[in-house]
Amino acid sequence: MSTTFNLDTSTSRANPTPAPMRRLTVPKIRQRKVDGVTEEPLVMLTAYTARQAQLLDPHCDMLLVGDSLGQVIYGLPSTIPVTLEMMANHAAAVVRGSYHSLVVVDLPFGSYESSPEDAFDTAAHLMKESGAAAVKLEGGEAMAETVAFLTRRGIPVMGHVGLTPQAVNVLGGYAARGRSDVEADKIVGDAVALCEAGAFAIVVEGVVEPIAIEVTKKVSCPTIGIGASAQCDGQVLVSEDMLGMFERVPRFVKRYDDIAGLISRTAETYAKEVRERTFPGPDQTYQPR
Ligand code: KIV
Repeated sequence: MSTTFNLDTSTSRANPTPAPMRRLTVPKIRQRKVDGVTEEPLVMLTAYTARQAQLLDPHCDMLLVGDSLGQVIYGLPSTIPVTLEMMANHAAAVVRGSYHSLVVVDLPFGSYESSPEDAFDTAAHLMKESGAAAVKLEGGEAMAETVAFLTRRGIPVMGHVGLTPQAVNVLGGYAARGRSDVEADKIVGDAVALCEAGAFAIVVEGVVEPIAIEVTKKVSCPTIGIGASAQCDGQVLVSEDMLGMFERVPRFVKRYDDIAGLISRTAETYAKEVRERTFPGPDQTYQPR
């Protein structure tokens, strides 16, 4: 049984003071694209923990509990080994830490592809355990039937086309997609099929820019770009990439800060003070009254 809705945070570090605001809904996100135009681009970032969600939430429209947590949190080589339980636990933490953004959770590899019924069971489990309001799945036209099946049964679905990391073993790597006419036509066809099946938004990852623009023009639902184009209806990045937690980042990432450097320098100072016995000092110790 999830503790999402009854956790008492009043006496813990997790005690947030939420600004009075209402959480964004799937229809509200979908309605941001009107007659093919999204005036203000949608902002999405990944989040995996409650505290990270608290910090990112006020600035975002959507928080994505991405299966990229496999690499970012667990040090796995790809998203392939990520399990349903990992996704459920991190999604529940992100829901607990957020008040404003729509929380979307990735269906992990192997948990949804075999049939629409399996996808429904997985998605329903994740939503019950976490309180997330929508799921994301990878794949284009081949997943359209599943998207329609879920949507008709009350599960909002975000699609994901172009470079789909769960298909790394078929694609042979993480190179940008859409460089040949055949690949480009496939990506556009995939996005159109997902949108017609009822996807409320579609992530377009790692595609050459003209294809991202064409997809954005062709589908009525918002596109969320990553390694795509500023002309998409919104953008997403892995938060740790955006914050500068990793030295090596893909070409499409902009490091907005150097959090890795900050953590390293701070730990160095702490270690020095411990070794010099200057920490803990008078302010951090209890004396008899
Ligand atoms: O898993 C993830 O973080 C994602 C985004 C990069 C789109 O799918």
